[in-house]
Amino acid sequence: MKKLLIANWKMHYGPIKAGAWIRAFRRERLPKDVDIAVAVPFVSLAAARASLGRASIPALAAQNVFWAEEGAFTGEISPSMLKEFGTEYCLVGHSERRAHLGETDEMVQKKAAALQKAGIIPVICVGETEAQRKRGEANKVVRAQVQAAITDLKMDGKVPVAIAYEPVWAIGSGKPCTAQEAKQMHEVIRVVLQKKLGAGADEIRIIYGGSVDLRNVSEYVTTTGIDGCLVGGASLDPRNFGLLCRAANPA
Ligand code: 13P
Repeated sequence: MKKLLIANWKMHYGPIKAGAWIRAFRRERLPKDVDIAVAVPFVSLAAARASLGRASIPALAAQNVFWAEEGAFTGEISPSMLKEFGTEYCLVGHSERRAHLGETDEMVQKKAAALQKAGIIPVICVGETEAQRKRGEANKVVRAQVQAAITDLKMDGKVPVAIAYEPVWAIGSGKPCTAQEAKQMHEVIRVVLQKKLGAGADEIRIIYGGSVDLRNVSEYVTTTGIDGCLVGGASLDPRNFGLLCRAANPA
């Protein structure tokens, strides 16, 4: 399975800076054996697409979506609208959305299913808080998040899905989860996927996110069971993200 590296800009870069980032990133020497995507704010999707021109790397990702196709949902964006921009991936249930916008497991479940139906790969984000880990509840919490999120997903000929394990305490903290801790949680997640989706579950990439940087990226991607990384802060500089992508190249 090819490794997957996704840049998550979060709430950074409007259209002008997004276009400049894409052009600068395209000047990097990009590895062929890594799938690369960039999750940009909605308003910057058009500029990112325009700067890409005919190029398909990095693939475009959105950071959120609504589950209905259209209707009276002021301020929301549907999967087919994202598809019009050639969006290939979409993050769902990022812990920042769960924390600040009240996103629940049920919403994550509906969003993931709607994305898959529209042919966009949902990247389902899960992860425990520091308090939950301290109480010894990390596995239980993450298992429940994954179980809920995949309830309506199908593996028969549909676009694949991906899971991003992002322990909340490791996000933006400079305190990354060790590769061994991540590996252990990825195994827990893999079992949940296998129980629900059978053999098809092995096609699902489980990537790690939380303070990934140039010093630790190669350790994650060379650890069995870690299929890539979701990168926040270290992706804001296109050069730096280019270096991360090269470091993730198996060759
Ligand atoms: P940092 O890489 O800045 O810790 O952010 C991780 C993240 O939340 C990516 O989605």
